[in-house]
Amino acid sequence: MKLALGSDHGGFRLKEAVKEYLEKVKIEYEDFGTYSEDSVDYPDFAQKVAEAVAAGLFDRGILICGTGIGISIAANKVPGIRAALCHDVFSARASREHNDANILTMGERVIGRGHALEIVKTWLESDFTGGRHCGRIEKIAEIEKKYCK
Ligand code: RB5
Repeated sequence: MKLALGSDHGGFRLKEAVKEYLEKVKIEYEDFGTYSEDSVDYPDFAQKVAEAVAAGLFDRGILICGTGIGISIAANKVPGIRAALCHDVFSARASREHNDANILTMGERVIGRGHALEIVKTWLESDFTGGRHCGRIEKIAEIEKKYCK
């Protein structure tokens, strides 16, 4: 498994904690920035990570901003991306099992580090269950096709 990571300044410290966790469990990643707490614009990092995941260069991605909202909205503009904002373990698991989420987003200003790492662990260990959910994912792709010219 190879992950693409990104954040703005509001998610920088949590991204560093996620990197530490990934190193501990030996999961490969590339950090697309930002690389400090200096103010930046979250859509820039959402775009880099989302495009890399959509291109198939990475299995999945993790994006973090202050709330997780802006970076999630921006990532979901890239065709093929299903970015899920999860601040609890139940949603993290469901986003994989039901929605085949390929990007996890979180807000550093919303949850604590320990909880966030539990969410990351669960999300990475959960798989798409397919079945009845396949048709729903296909319908999402159909909406995308209708509007992406
Ligand atoms: C940055 O101040 C903040 O707006 C950003 O991190 C994020 O919360 C946006 O959704």
